[in-house]
Amino acid sequence: MLISLFEEAKSLSSDSVLNGKIMAALFFEPSTRTRFSFEAAMLRLGGSVISNADMLKTSSATKKETLYDTGKVISQMADVIVMRHPEAGSVAELAKGSSVPVINAGDGANEHPTQALMDLFTIWMEKGTLDGLKIGLVGDLKYGRVPHSQFDLLKHFDSEIVLISPESLKMPEGILEGRDCVEVDNLSEVIGDLDVIAMSRVQKERFDDESEYERVAGSYVLNGALMEMAKSDAIVIHPLPRVDEIALEVDSDPRAKYFDQVAYGVSLRKALLKSVLL
Ligand code: NCD
Repeated sequence: MLISLFEEAKSLSSDSVLNGKIMAALFFEPSTRTRFSFEAAMLRLGGSVISNADMLKTSSATKKETLYDTGKVISQMADVIVMRHPEAGSVAELAKGSSVPVINAGDGANEHPTQALMDLFTIWMEKGTLDGLKIGLVGDLKYGRVPHSQFDLLKHFDSEIVLISPESLKMPEGILEGRDCVEVDNLSEVIGDLDVIAMSRVQKERFDDESEYERVAGSYVLNGALMEMAKSDAIVIHPLPRVDEIALEVDSDPRAKYFDQVAYGVSLRKALLKSVLL
């Protein structure tokens, strides 16, 4: 199922197969890549977009309209809804009211499934497989919705996952679901074994206590010295935006794939929209 989506994403041209279809993008939380990526994917396939990048401030959310009602309303105007919101479970709540498919573009610290899909698509394109690899998830595994979704999707493949985070930002038990993984807090100890180095940003906006954030900010900085310890055919991915967890000097390393991921993301979302709408 996942691999057939990736095959489709790899081979898809930009024919106007979604002509006449409308995608509504409802973003209650900031975004650069994700919203533009969905919009570009829809437009490239001949579809149309209605979009609000600032729903929390400019939609009827300010008048206390419920997400359920918003779902009821928007689904009568659009064929698919893409939504991001700062609260976990919010997308599922809107989907209850919607009569059209709703795609989760990030709900709080919970999940960001399409980012994880494009991350796995990137690995599959670059390494040719998702099996038999050693994949390190690095950074904020507690609040990071991207590592949560990556972990969830990787369950479908036979690769080893190494969890690398500060003690206070470990992957929650509810996501681990008893799965046995190596958990370390020192990237340099394990980097030499990794085929995929999946970096992530410490999610400042999710911390209740600013001083707790300051304590763990900058825990990992992937720099040239660390990259020298990494395998010659390892790849580095990151959903972006980065703060300081990847030094600029790494950008010119051929193993750095985080900017290539942007194009992979549009392809993946084209395939996803097509599978949902046709
Ligand atoms: C991620 C997000 O919003 O969760 N960004 C993205 O969608 N590309 C990661 C992050 O903000 O750290």
